[in-house]
Amino acid sequence: MIEKIKKDLLINISKDRYLHTLRVVDTCKKLAINHNMDLEKTTISALLHDSAKFIKKERVVDLAKEFGLLDKSKKPYNTELLHGPLAVKIAISKYDVVDKDILNAIKYHTTGRRNMSLLEKIIFMGDYIEPHRNFEGIQIIRNLAFEDLDKSLLLALDTNIKFLIESKKTISIDSIDARNYLIEENLKKRR
Ligand SMILES: [Fe+2]
Ligand SMILES: [Fe+2]
Repeated sequence: MIEKIKKDLLINISKDRYLHTLRVVDTCKKLAINHNMDLEKTTISALLHDSAKFIKKERVVDLAKEFGLLDKSKKPYNTELLHGPLAVKIAISKYDVVDKDILNAIKYHTTGRRNMSLLEKIIFMGDYIEPHRNFEGIQIIRNLAFEDLDKSLLLALDTNIKFLIESKKTISIDSIDARNYLIEENLKKRR
């Protein structure tokens, strides 16, 4: 299955996106070893996470309509938020993935969500810290991902949310939920 996915990716997504995907697989595997996660599940999730980032944006919209992910009357579409849920449909229909944890890790890799599983956190963070990512504060988050996954996730969400506010972009409710949940859980632990 892994080789088949790689072959398909080379056709469907850009070379740059493909190379990014391989770096994410590599980073996620390191995180998985560090945090005791199944390596095969990690590899499949990481390989498929950006499988719907087609070179042509129209294809994302067309396919999302086909799978019933879009309200046909609504426009314009935020293709950035569509590629996770669409990749889930591809995983199910093309590769017969049934594992809920893998599907959720793919679906929420850009936004995060409340009460994320270990696999979901690993895919989110692997995508966030892969070696070509370069912005202020990345090294702190990168190191933290191996020491304290929840702390690194919170810092990544904070950084993302701040960036979205500064660039006057919309913020997914799932990202806010993910952040609130981590803070609430942390407070409970301290009580
Ligand atoms: Fe993505
Ligand atoms: Fe990605």
